[in-house]
Amino acid sequence: MCGIVGYIGDKNCLPILINGLKRLEYRGYDSAGIGIITNGDSVLIKNKGKVSVLEDRVGEMNLEAPLGIGHTRWATHGIPNETNAHPHTNEDKSLFLIHNGIIENYRTIKNELLKLGYEFASDTDTEVLVHLIDSFINRGNDLCKAVQLTLNEVIGTYGIAVIYKSEPDKVVVARKGSPLVVGLGENENFIASDVSALLAHTKQIIYLDDGELAVVSRDGYKVKTIADQEIEKEIHEISMTLEEIDKGGYTHFMLKEIMEQPDSVFNSMRGRLLFDEGDAKLGGLSDVTNRLINSERIIISACGTSWHAGLVAEYMLENIARLPAEVEYASEFRYRNPVINSNDTVIVISQSGETADTLAALREAKYRGALVLGVCNVVGSTIARESEAGVYIHAGPEIGVASTKAFTSQLIVLALITLLVARRKALSADEGKLIVNALRRLPEQISHILNLNSSIELLANEFKDANNFLYLGRGYNFPVALEGALKLKEISYIHAEGYPAAEMKHGPIALIDENLPVVFIATKDSTYEKVISNIEEVKARGGRLIAIASENDDEIDRLVNHTIKIPDTVEMLRPILTSIPLQLLAYHIAVKKGLNVDQPRNLAKSVTVE
Ligand code: F6R
Repeated sequence: MCGIVGYIGDKNCLPILINGLKRLEYRGYDSAGIGIITNGDSVLIKNKGKVSVLEDRVGEMNLEAPLGIGHTRWATHGIPNETNAHPHTNEDKSLFLIHNGIIENYRTIKNELLKLGYEFASDTDTEVLVHLIDSFINRGNDLCKAVQLTLNEVIGTYGIAVIYKSEPDKVVVARKGSPLVVGLGENENFIASDVSALLAHTKQIIYLDDGELAVVSRDGYKVKTIADQEIEKEIHEISMTLEEIDKGGYTHFMLKEIMEQPDSVFNSMRGRLLFDEGDAKLGGLSDVTNRLINSERIIISACGTSWHAGLVAEYMLENIARLPAEVEYASEFRYRNPVINSNDTVIVISQSGETADTLAALREAKYRGALVLGVCNVVGSTIARESEAGVYIHAGPEIGVASTKAFTSQLIVLALITLLVARRKALSADEGKLIVNALRRLPEQISHILNLNSSIELLANEFKDANNFLYLGRGYNFPVALEGALKLKEISYIHAEGYPAAEMKHGPIALIDENLPVVFIATKDSTYEKVISNIEEVKARGGRLIAIASENDDEIDRLVNHTIKIPDTVEMLRPILTSIPLQLLAYHIAVKKGLNVDQPRNLAKSVTVE
């Protein structure tokens, strides 16, 4: 959620920290701050609001420093203001600390520290960490030891970075539950919560694991456990490029990412289709294929948009692979004492690979002996590393907070997993070939849908002032209705609900009047006729109707006010096409309302707290 960046080396850290924070701003953007140590002096600058405000203030101060840490915040404890912004500091401002995560026992620690005479400036849980470190330093420990002793007392999650005026040759970082990487350079080293902050400087990365701490200096680094055992870490070479995390001429990352979908979808299946066999080849699953196909049940666990992808996969796995499948909100799964057997396969889906609830579901499923597979976008993310096996979706970095291209790429990978299993069960080679050929056509079909952008923009003009929206679909398109509603509400702040179309008459039909836009996803599939009846029911009550329909469907035009016609594909792949006009509709409505689509209020990319 929050973004962390730090630098130690021969250069001036300030532009590195500010640029790093700008890269991380999509993770949290209610306040920002930096702490630096220079010539025996420590300087703290922080403010409510954007990194650009911080940048202006830093620019006016004309500072230089070889050591510093920076933070962009997504508030958990305490409102977004200057005092609650990070870094937090001790009384004589010799220590600076930034934190991502939640310290659950902060009240207990705070009470102990108050008894020792410590005073607190902020309402955050984080501030206890800096005072506790200070108290251990005052008892004769060096910075590293003081951090270790502090973390021994902490219950909760953290990615932290700490610097200390009396030890200006190091940054100490530690993680439990919140990502942290060390970036390696020459005569300089970096730390960050996300590699995107470091791409301009290095591609050599070390991922810290939970319970690990690193002491990073200008010339090297040492990694150990919180309990002080030294550890050898692998150095990873990052393949992501700077161009991939730039807007590339688009006004918003979200629009860029929507428009990238012909490529991102292609990349998700590149090298993974076996045309002659009508099959899929997924290297990441080769060691576990037998266990997967012999699973008695598939349980899919995820949050938000990834959960919607899981719902589509439930239909795919049951219809095509004939495997029983269930989908669970990760946040419920972890606390529900779920029945999981060693014959089950649990698939966790996460774009970021860092979502706290999904990670907890993964760990619980592993603990209970299920085969655990990860479907992630971010290479090297915690979920990707902790899964027993998995498949990367290769959608490329997704910076817009609203997930778009990751969703369609998740669906591609889930379709490939389905194909892999189905071909080893009941699906014939010919049936498999139909799916493979349909997959192959998707990038071109997506381009065709993206060409409808300007007509969808016109539609957005007409509907931008609505207060509520209803999205309805059946079968594979029911999860698309949920996803369409989520996209709209998260970036336009218009209340929207998704329902299975036939459920409408069991309650939501009461909402329908001439002010309510109702979006039907009504492609020509097995439930088409039923959906048409539902459309008639809405029409009879005066609702304003928009339909996502098949391009050969002329009938539907007489029933609805607006149609968006899309190319046809096999039923299991339709959500990949039907979701795209809904992404564009949400995007244009939010833009027309003058909202910040890439950084909607209260949200953050990658939810690393419960
Ligand atoms: C919605 C959105 C969120 C995420 C959810 C899970 O547009 O982005 O609902 O899908 O927070 O995130 P990941 O997939 O990173 O686990």
